Amino acid sequence: MNGRTFFFQEFLKHPLQIGSVIPSSRFLEKRVVDTAKVNSARFIVELGPGIGGITKAVLEAAGQDFRLLSIEINPNFHAFIKNIRDERLIAHLGDARELGQIIDRYGLGAPDAVISGIPFSTMSESCGSKIIRSIFDVLAPGGRFVAYQLSSRVISLCKPVMGEGEIMLEFLNIPPMRVCCWRKSNGNGDKATKG
Ligand SMILES: C[S@@+](CC[C@H](N)C(=O)[O-])C[C@H]1O[C@@H](n2cnc3c(N)ncnc32)[C@H](O)[C@@H]1O
Repeated sequence: MNGRTFFFQEFLKHPLQIGSVIPSSRFLEKRVVDTAKVNSARFIVELGPGIGGITKAVLEAAGQDFRLLSIEINPNFHAFIKNIRDERLIAHLGDARELGQIIDRYGLGAPDAVISGIPFSTMSESCGSKIIRSIFDVLAPGGRFVAYQLSSRVISLCKPVMGEGEIMLEFLNIPPMRVCCWRKSNGNGDKATKG
């Protein structure tokens, strides 16, 4: 079975958790990779890798001395990610709500970026806010949070924690997708800023 068919079948079983009927296009993958500045990153966390299109694009763009921790809640998608043969990848079956504990478990320090495709629009506001808070807390100074989302919900959830982000639209995706980026203060007195 090809990846898209598999993705759609999983969507039919868990529509709210997956939040999209087809995986991201390669144009969206590239946009996310560029926005997260993967080529200069040492460690990145990906929330909700699905069938791994963005995961592979990140690994292709990253250097050798790099780690990618992917956190996927769906065991069938997780099995897909585990099949990616790359020593830089750690595939973790788990929930983004436990982000802090999961990162601690692997002892990789603070990520330079967190990339997220999990659907904030279908979870409760308190759950979404907690995840955003923990993303902000785990990020390294100067680190980036990059979210690709159909809905604008993530923007309102992020505003009280990370301020105004940079919002882009990737039209070469079905449907066109928002790509949002926030940057954590680097600790030199600057505020969280646009990507
Ligand atoms: C819109 S899909 C994105 C899939 C893939 N990254 C792509 O670009 O095509 C959202 C993904 O987030 C996962 N997900 C949803 N809630 C999650 C959570 N709380 N923790 C981890 N993964 C989650 C879903 O299982 C699904 O794989």
